[in-house]
Amino acid sequence: MAAPTKISSVFRNGLFNGKVAIVTGGGTGIGKAITQELLYLGCNVMVASRNEERLRKATDEMKKNITSPAELDHMQCNIRKEEQVQNLISTTLSRFGKLDFLINNGGGQFPARAEAFSLKGWNAVIETNLTGTFLCCREAYNQWMNDNGGVIVNIIADMWKGLPMMSHTGAARAAVDNLTKSLALEWAESGVRVNSVAPGSSIYSETAAANYGDPKIFAYNIPKIPLKRLGTVEEISTSVCFLLSPASAYITGETIKVDGGGSLYSTMIFDIPDHKKSKAYTWKDDEKSKSKL
Ligand code: ADE
Repeated sequence: MAAPTKISSVFRNGLFNGKVAIVTGGGTGIGKAITQELLYLGCNVMVASRNEERLRKATDEMKKNITSPAELDHMQCNIRKEEQVQNLISTTLSRFGKLDFLINNGGGQFPARAEAFSLKGWNAVIETNLTGTFLCCREAYNQWMNDNGGVIVNIIADMWKGLPMMSHTGAARAAVDNLTKSLALEWAESGVRVNSVAPGSSIYSETAAANYGDPKIFAYNIPKIPLKRLGTVEEISTSVCFLLSPASAYITGETIKVDGGGSLYSTMIFDIPDHKKSKAYTWKDDEKSKSKL
């Protein structure tokens, strides 16, 4: 059996001692890395996810690796359900007495062409990735951060050039990018900073690899990334911790792309077949149509 990974951080020990965070989707992949780094830095964490069984197992494992005084708890919460989100925030406040950080990492989608989406499938993805994030932000603000300040980090996606085969989540994540800006402006007066981190599609995690079914899909990305390698979940977590920390005290309404430069360089893997469906337009076309009148 492989030795358990020793949790670490580039940030100083004790940076988040006594702080309290909620991490949605905190039991797997990027969310798990964020949770583990926060715990390492002394932050108490409430992880929330829809799948209680999987979350409990992940929480039990993470508890064994805590090296700071921080405590970890977990709660089943479907972020699409308003009452469950309200309950997540109020239970965290009762459990830990405060809420300094909210990390909206919970999300989900399935690959398909847009014309094949049912309304139910479309709504489910929008409700999880956009409405769920909104509900968590609103409840954190109304129940705590309005009076006490705080920091929110939303995890979005590499949707800057569109997201074919994932148009539902692309639309939802682009909306969260804009929501980030609006909330940063509205809530600045309460001492709340709101930022986002946009991981590239080239961030490797075992959870993402299992979701895609084909682990090689990640390797196809490498030639398209200026840094010529895949990214790690720890590289997302460090950006989140930076945005939560006083090192970013003057940053709000911003999105950090963590993608090895991929979004600047080239398009994603989506081949458009050769076709002749696009008709050019010139003024001569107008003349021709006028002459027919
Ligand atoms: N992760 C994926 N979907 C979720 C949901 N609906 N609620 C909480 N976490 C999730």
